[in-house]
Amino acid sequence: MNGRVIAIDGPAGAGKSSVARAVAERLGWSFLDTGAMYRAVTFFALDHGIDLSDDESLEKVAVGLSISITERVVINGRDVTAEIRTPEVNSKVSSVAACSAIRRALVEQQRIFASEQAHGTVVEGRDITTVVFPDAEVKVFLTASLEERAKRRGDESAASVAARDEADASRVDSPLSVGEGVTILDTTNMPLDQVVDEVVACLRK
Ligand code: DC
Repeated sequence: MNGRVIAIDGPAGAGKSSVARAVAERLGWSFLDTGAMYRAVTFFALDHGIDLSDDESLEKVAVGLSISITERVVINGRDVTAEIRTPEVNSKVSSVAACSAIRRALVEQQRIFASEQAHGTVVEGRDITTVVFPDAEVKVFLTASLEERAKRRGDESAASVAARDEADASRVDSPLSVGEGVTILDTTNMPLDQVVDEVVACLRK
């Protein structure tokens, strides 16, 4: 049991996953991609024909949900690592992420995960610095220009990235925002190693 946390938030394509994974590797900590959890629930709901605008149905999905995120993403025993990155999931995940019952269930799992890691966890998402771990040792908000973020997303268009950011930043429950005590890093022209250095330096301050 440890519970040390580096929390990283930011819009789509800001480099959160690459940075969080590399920071975790450098420190020998665990890494948690919380976006993959929202994606897994979205895929599961779509696959079960659940109406994504119906909060009651989504709440039923949230109850008893088992998600395992390691190198693979597994939901209720099914490996959905590839399925959670499709354009359909890209376009629907923000509406599932706006459902409070889903957020409650996933936030609880995120806190349990971090409490169980031997050395610490680098957690990335949209509400990690503001809601999930507001007392994290290090809190970072990564951003980059829309053009750069769309480029990093590869097969996702700038319009799709921008639409998701707008939905994530304007929802009522835990919107993407810059919280208190957060270090903002604009990574538009920064190589990955430099971003990793800066995040690790925050831990040593
Ligand atoms: O990081 P990503 O693009 O894989 O995240 C997918 C979606 O999940 C994103 O549109 C917003 C949502 N999300 C969230 O609401 N809260 C988080 N902590 C992580 C992701």
